[in-house]
Formats: sequence, structure tokens, C-alpha cells
Amino acid sequence: MNVPIPFLDLSLFDQDLKTALERKFSEMLSKGIFSGGEEVELLALRIADFLDTKCTIIPCSNGTDALEIALRALEISIGDEVIVPALTWVSTAEVVKLVGAKPVFIDTDRSGLMDLDLLDQLATQKTKAIIPVHLYGKMVDMKKLTSWAKNKGIKIIEDNAQGFGAHQNGKSAGVWGDIGCFSFYPSKNFGALGEAGAVTTSDKNLAKKIQMLINHGQPIRDRHEMVGRNARMDSIQAGFLNVKLDYFKNWQEKRKNLAALYLDHLSGTGDLILPDTILNSDHNAHLFVIQTTLRNELKQFLQEKGIGTSIHYPTIIPKMIPYLEEVEFSIAEKITASALSLPLNPFLTEKEVMRIIFEVKLFYGKTS
Ligand SMILES: Cc1ncc(COP(=O)(O)O)c(C=O)c1O
Repeated sequence: MNVPIPFLDLSLFDQDLKTALERKFSEMLSKGIFSGGEEVELLALRIADFLDTKCTIIPCSNGTDALEIALRALEISIGDEVIVPALTWVSTAEVVKLVGAKPVFIDTDRSGLMDLDLLDQLATQKTKAIIPVHLYGKMVDMKKLTSWAKNKGIKIIEDNAQGFGAHQNGKSAGVWGDIGCFSFYPSKNFGALGEAGAVTTSDKNLAKKIQMLINHGQPIRDRHEMVGRNARMDSIQAGFLNVKLDYFKNWQEKRKNLAALYLDHLSGTGDLILPDTILNSDHNAHLFVIQTTLRNELKQFLQEKGIGTSIHYPTIIPKMIPYLEEVEFSIAEKITASALSLPLNPFLTEKEVMRIIFEVKLFYGKTS
């Protein structure tokens, strides 16, 4: 029996990374600073530097809070509409409901990104914002979207939970919109050891407002100028992210190399549709999502071989109880029925990926 290959096992960090994280933990334990402080400030500066942006980076509690705070900063609420993709992680639509606005769902193209050709049909006088999602790590065409939104006076909140490190025309994912929102959830390409996120904006006034919303409406301690909340990033997570940022480029290289192996060897196999743009710079190779009419059978087959896979996502948002819509989103629904994420992470070896490839090919050999 072959050794199992999990979809993702975060206990597999290299020993030198584990040691660096343990060292950071001890260091922070002796300093006794667990909220705010130098690690959070340093992380904001280092992310800005890494993204090569003049935007203000505001670390926060997680990606969902980042999105909700972005909507609140833009004063989007009851009576407003926000365009969101039908296929995404639930947070993108959830936050719109949380602030009392209406999510207006848009179908996707075959790669899972919002279909920009449908925008004109969906925009109304009530449309205040749009939330493009760089799904699976592949960027939405931000040049096209920003020019459309600017013409209509519609704000862009970029959901960059999955796209850290990708860039388009030399400009990083997450700094194209009026506000950008990041998740550093542990399974992301740049992940903390717990919950964490960030909000970005180039607008200094918005940045101030976001800082206040994240910290009980205070510009300084004990002066509460607006109703905010506690959505601050834990210092310890900022500390861990400061360590992990040093590993990011190397991990990205590994992801891309493994993705290239999959592409080389799986091309032309069965009815597989491969993520053929995954090696481009506007894709950060977060997920390797294939599409096949035999998705459930292939998933089962790989599971029996000890290979973990995942589905991103099994249900479109407008088919979920809190968001039900009668409208059809035919492409997004096709993806929910055919998409399968194969393991792609920096802890995999080439040998393991070659075994996954072998098993996928074996599956199609058997069934054709
Ligand atoms: C597209 C998308 N949006 C938002 C989020 C929310 O981020 P978090 O889990 O940090 O709240 C995620 C994270 O899974 C995501 O993938």
C-alpha cells in the first residue's frame, strides 16, 4: 500500500521553519506584547514592500472581517446592492448581508471568475460596489473591471483572500480596488498559524476610517469617534507571518513547479479541463482545480488510493438557504458539479505529484 497523500497537511513545515516559528514565539513570550505592537506594525510595512505598493496595509483579524469592514468603511448598508460572484467562498456574499445590503450574484466564466461581460445587465442605480474574487489564485481582469466601475461610479472591493502574490501588468493583486481584502487563513499561500487578514487602500481618509473601525472607533486610546469593533490582528499571528514571509517566494516556486508537472503530464487525459493559465504571473497557484464530468468517480477513486482531494466549492452561493435565488447561474453550477482540486502545496514532492498523475491517468485508462 502506498503512503497516503493528504490534500494538505500543515504539520509538514520544514524543520528550519518550525525552529524559526518557535524562536519567534519564545521571543514574543518574553516581551509580553500580545496585542498590537511592533510585529503588527512591521508586518504592515513588509507586506506593502512585498506588494510594491504605496497603499496603507491594515492588518486585521481575518479575511471575512476585512470584507465586512471594507463595506462599512464605504458606508454600504440597507437599500444598497453589491455585485458578487455566484461561485466563491461564502464570506464574499455573507458580509454583504451582514451590513444589510443585497448581494447581486453574477455568473462566472469557465475558469470560475466573475463574467465581466454580464456586468451591464446587473448594475442598477442601487449598485454601490462590486467584489471581484481572485478565485483559486487567478486574478480577475482588473484593468477591464476598474475602467467599467469608474465609469459607473461603483466602488471595487477586491477579495484577495486567495490571490496573494499574483500580479497583473506589474501591479499586485489586492491593490487594484478602492479597498483590498486579504485572508491569511493557515491554508492560504501566505498563511498564519491561526486566523488573520488585512485591508488595503490607497485612500488616506479611508485608511484612517478602516483603522478606527477595526479598533472600536478609536483614533487614539479612549477616544471613540465612531462605532467600531475589535477586529485587530493578534500580535502573535503578525509575528508568525513576519517569519513566514521570508519563505513565501520559495514556496511559490515550488507550487509553480508542481503545477507545471501536472500540466505537462495530464494534458489530453480523458475529458479533463486543466487550469492552463496557472503558470502565468496573474495566478498564484493557490489551488490546482481540474474539471471533469466524472468528478465524483475520480474523487472516490483517488480516495481509495489514499490521495486526498477537495471541492471548491460544492454549492454556488445563491443555492444556499440564506441566499436563495431562482435565477440560473449555469456556468458556475457546471463548475460546482465538475471541479476537483488536486493536492498542490509546498510540502509535496515531485514524486508524490507523479504518483497522483499516474493514478489520475490510470482512472481514465480504466474508464475509457
Ligand atoms: C474567496 C474568499 N473570501 C473570503 C475568505 C475569508 O477569509 P477568512 O477565512 O480569513 O475569514 C476566504 C477564505 O477562505 C476566501 O477564500
